[in-house]
Amino acid sequence: MIYIAVMGYGTVGSGVAEVFYKNRESIQRKIGNKPMDIKYILDLRDFPDSPYADKFTKDFNVIANDPDIDVVAEVMGGLEPAFTYTKTCLEHGKSVVTSNKELVAARGAELLEIARRNNVNFFFEASVGGGIPIIRPLHSSLAANEIDEIAGILNGTTNFILTKMIKEQMGFDDALALAQKLGYAERNPSADVDGHDACRKICILASLSFGRHIYPEFIHTEGIRSVTLEDVAYAENWGGVIKLIGRAKRVSEDGGKIYAMVSPAFISHDSQLSSVDDVFNGILVRGDATGDVVFYGKGAGKLPTASAVIADIVDAVKATSTSKSLQWKDDGKNHVLDYKQQSSSFYLRMQGSIDCVQKAKEIFGEIKLLHRPGQPNDEFAFVAPCMTETAMDEKSAQLQQIGCRQLAMLRVLDY
Ligand code: HSE
Repeated sequence: MIYIAVMGYGTVGSGVAEVFYKNRESIQRKIGNKPMDIKYILDLRDFPDSPYADKFTKDFNVIANDPDIDVVAEVMGGLEPAFTYTKTCLEHGKSVVTSNKELVAARGAELLEIARRNNVNFFFEASVGGGIPIIRPLHSSLAANEIDEIAGILNGTTNFILTKMIKEQMGFDDALALAQKLGYAERNPSADVDGHDACRKICILASLSFGRHIYPEFIHTEGIRSVTLEDVAYAENWGGVIKLIGRAKRVSEDGGKIYAMVSPAFISHDSQLSSVDDVFNGILVRGDATGDVVFYGKGAGKLPTASAVIADIVDAVKATSTSKSLQWKDDGKNHVLDYKQQSSSFYLRMQGSIDCVQKAKEIFGEIKLLHRPGQPNDEFAFVAPCMTETAMDEKSAQLQQIGCRQLAMLRVLDY
């Protein structure tokens, strides 16, 4: 019998048990018809009415010290005790699979190294893109490529909120409450709406693609709190939508220097990313041999995430040695270049007189003026041509010196 343990019985953990017992027969077929069962579920809370009530334990050491346990699913979230538990399991010769992006983004290289030393596996397909296969394709199916760039809608909650704002004119707070009710949002919604969750995910994808550990704290990150229905209307007039995009781009040949950022942005209706709605995620990977490859699917939620966790369990059971392609170096250095030197087009919404519009044309050059229903006389919005963030700041400051007030600024991206 192959025994697994599940650490954490929240949204993802309960989904893992549900999917495992629902599809147990076909899952066992995929590991060569070997019998498999969940032996323990670790959680500090009591679940007396659960169908798995006999499996619950509050004591991590029961799992760590049980030689019967082959694979552990860490689905608790957060850095501690997740890191200590994961490390201990790996050192006790158990493979660990996780959905915990915070853990992988902060300590992934270290845990992969510990797994390698102990000849077990550390898998994290569920940490990015929920049910979408993206980690395995990146290091396996696309192995022939140098990855030049990755850009994605990586957070289901914010995409759900923005979709409600765009399609139903729903207010931000109502849309967030609905996302939480449906189980998409993190326990602390700031991780979603302020972009930290998307930042961790782009770090994991960038680390894997460029071979260096990319730390979240070095990536300029903006969330969606300041996006308004006015900006949504101007984006529509421009010919697109607003999406929260996490992106990373190789600058030096060896991947030693990259640009990376998380921010809301205008995305044209022509882009495949523009039609990624609701809780879905879309991830565009630009390989030097394949060109663009786009991955699409449910990026959050109980069952899609559980699907990725169980796929990792199956692979961990099947693996006869550690995966060599799933790795990157952690040299403790920052490989992310100053975002102020990064270039894009920009959308600006300003308050000011007709003189300001004339002045904007002089300062920014070829601008495209935008319009929206109910636009006040003293509001104007435009898309400015491609320039660095620094150049845009300087030009905006010049406009503000003559009495125009900047109300909003968003990047205009061309994926
Ligand atoms: N809160 C996350 C999201 C869950 O909305 O995408 C999946 O990582």
